Amino acid sequence: MRKIIIASDHGAVALKSEIVSFLKTKNCEVRDIGVNSDDPVDYPDIAVTACNEFKKGGYDFGILLCGTGIGVSITANKVKGIRCALIHDLFTAEMAKAHNDANFIAFGGRVKYSIEVTKMIEKFMDTKFAGNRHLRRVNKIMDTEKSRE
Ligand code: RB5
Repeated sequence: MRKIIIASDHGAVALKSEIVSFLKTKNCEVRDIGVNSDDPVDYPDIAVTACNEFKKGGYDFGILLCGTGIGVSITANKVKGIRCALIHDLFTAEMAKAHNDANFIAFGGRVKYSIEVTKMIEKFMDTKFAGNRHLRRVNKIMDTEKSRE
């Protein structure tokens, strides 16, 4: 059974509920760390909490949500070991896994997508990392963490 962590700021609470319901129909174990109200919170806090929980282990991947998906993805990509992809269609959902081996994907609750977010998540979940030259490139992404000041 896949285990997935999901978190949202106040800008994507309804989208989070929709995704959690979808993941349950796919027999996933879902760890939903909130938030569940429209009261404003700071998305960096949400993203860092989710990433740190993910890094404890046992999760297949994580989903981060805010109004645009931008704030949570920028934040997550500053956490060591995290590769968070901002997805906007089926192609980027597929490539995020096949080429980037993303361990987090991000969406925006206030974004008008041309396809349902659950379909993009399904595509990501149905895709395998392609390895080979993409592994070399992913390793180079991770090597950039070592040169951080
Ligand atoms: C919150 O108003 C909004 O800025 C946040 O949800 C997100 O869109 C930031 O990137």
